[in-house]
Amino acid sequence: MDALNDLLLPPAKSTLAHQTDTLFWFVHLSGLVLTIGLIGVLIYFVIKYRRESEDEVTPLITHNNKLEVTWSVIPLIMVLIVFGWGYQVFMEQRVAPDDAYEVNVTGQKWIWQFTYENGARTNGELHVPAGRPVKLIMNSSDVIHSFYVPDYRIKQDVLPGRYTEVWFNAPEPGESIVFCTEYCGTSHSDMTAKVIVHEEGEFENWLADNAGGGGMPEDLAPAEWGEQLAQEWACSTCHSADGSDMTGPTWQGLFGHEVQLSDGSTVTADENYIRESILEPGAKVVDGYPNVMNTYQGQLNDEQINAIIEYIKTLK
Ligand code: CUA
Repeated sequence: MDALNDLLLPPAKSTLAHQTDTLFWFVHLSGLVLTIGLIGVLIYFVIKYRRESEDEVTPLITHNNKLEVTWSVIPLIMVLIVFGWGYQVFMEQRVAPDDAYEVNVTGQKWIWQFTYENGARTNGELHVPAGRPVKLIMNSSDVIHSFYVPDYRIKQDVLPGRYTEVWFNAPEPGESIVFCTEYCGTSHSDMTAKVIVHEEGEFENWLADNAGGGGMPEDLAPAEWGEQLAQEWACSTCHSADGSDMTGPTWQGLFGHEVQLSDGSTVTADENYIRESILEPGAKVVDGYPNVMNTYQGQLNDEQINAIIEYIKTLK
């Protein structure tokens, strides 16, 4: 079974992943055995009981109690086994242990944001301690997303205006990928994140280092920090830095130039225009592009917006 697992399924990196896998294999292999058996018997009977002469008449058989009870009861038992087993695994995976470490998750077109108990925030990277249950409390700031970590065998819809939960325990340090599995618009397929599992003790250090978060790192110039922020906040999913056409206008050569807006007017792409476009993206949409961007009001602070503007200025 382990060999099959390695061949066909993603690595099982959470404490409960093997439960899902065992149930998965039971359902599929018993289905396979039944299918092969059924088709085999079908073919055998077609050959054995085929009509061999013109005047052969099929005997009239109305029913067979023994046979009918057997073929009803066996599948019933199998379905009940799958139900009982599935229910038990489901409940264990639904209900997080009381001592779980809690992280808040926000899904937004098209990034995953994580907030920790001490105020640390990360985008696109979920940091967790190894060997400890982690409970994610999730909501969405726009449409329905879905948080899926194949390595952990967990998947949960993330909804606007309502909290959903999911939990896991990853015993080994390492990395796993998070996918969005609910179609949420243009860059749905780019809405990924990484789970970074830290060794025991190392996680506390990471958390302490990132407490408060959001300030400019001392070793970076504003434009360099802006480039980093554009990655982190997924600006780069829609705005290229090299002139190539994506969902939104490219940032290359944007600053200081006139842009044509969808209402027919023009505006100079200066600091004020870029700032307004980040905080109120629908106000002045560049002609030829869809009005799909979310506001970053309350998410990016002034210092961060300035850094992004500095970065855009460097893209001549
Ligand atoms: Cu978020 Cu698909």
